[in-house]
Amino acid sequence: MNVQWYPGHMAKAKRMMQENIKLIDVIIELVDARIPLSSKNPDIDALAGNKSRVLLLNKYDMADPKYNEMWKKYFEDKGFHTALINSKNGQGINQIKDIVYKACEAKIERDRRRGILNRPVRAMVVGIPNVGKSTFINSFVGKATAKTGNKPGVTKGKQWIRLSSKIELLDTPGILWPKFEDPAAGMRLAFIGSINDDIIQMTELSLELILFLSKYYPNALKDRYDILIPDNLESIKDGVGVLEQIATKRSCIMKGGEPDIDRAALILIDEFRNGRLGKVTLEFPE
Ligand code: G4P
Repeated sequence: MNVQWYPGHMAKAKRMMQENIKLIDVIIELVDARIPLSSKNPDIDALAGNKSRVLLLNKYDMADPKYNEMWKKYFEDKGFHTALINSKNGQGINQIKDIVYKACEAKIERDRRRGILNRPVRAMVVGIPNVGKSTFINSFVGKATAKTGNKPGVTKGKQWIRLSSKIELLDTPGILWPKFEDPAAGMRLAFIGSINDDIIQMTELSLELILFLSKYYPNALKDRYDILIPDNLESIKDGVGVLEQIATKRSCIMKGGEPDIDRAALILIDEFRNGRLGKVTLEFPE
């Protein structure tokens, strides 16, 4: 899903989140392993208050393995219970129930001291559009589709999925708005396709991608398009020369014989988003 955000959307999403957070013990937050900071909602910490937190680095299959563990440690050091997952094929999903439960240990202990035993912890999945929330929920829930229905005393219409005797999950994920203020984050979100393409100038975006890849993953471009990437980054300038090479290799030629860089830009962005340029991480832990 690709949502274009307006202030009204954001206010509604925030209201829903505030309402739902009251009902749960633990927030399962999904970020994209290729851009863990840019895909992280800036306001979630304030909204989460003192709820237990699990942070899942989804789509780790598309991210550079060299950085995956570094990012995992980065978030662990910040106090999150964390895992690398691929919701699409289910890798890493088995461990999540234990992680969720562990994240709630303090709450379970508090309950126990108050004589409340065996109450399942309640969880909710949240994340920005396209990060993989629905795919994750399907994979996480698996065959445990028994819905517990509306609870007395709890907001009407909320469906809970019983995952085990210990965990219940709110069946609809919370949609968080992406980062708007930071242009660099916006660009990374656009690279992976999490911003509505209608509002993006694709050729400019592709040139930014070329500059990034030439610097950090030159072989990804060389291998995919069989083109030359100069070692001296200065000489790449704005990346148009590289895009022209891609256009020529992919037979994107205009009537007069000029390379059609606008068509080449679309090819590059599309292939990048589909993982054809290999496993690429777009931002790095400090
Ligand atoms: P959302 O609810 O957060 O908006 O995201 P959703 O689950 O719809 O997932 C968005 C896209 O990301 C889907 O692809 C989905 O298959 C893909 N996806 C989710 N998790 C992973 C993952 O861990 N690894 C990879 N590689 N992809 C993942 P799509 O192109 O929209 O649909 P489809 O081509 O899979 O049918």
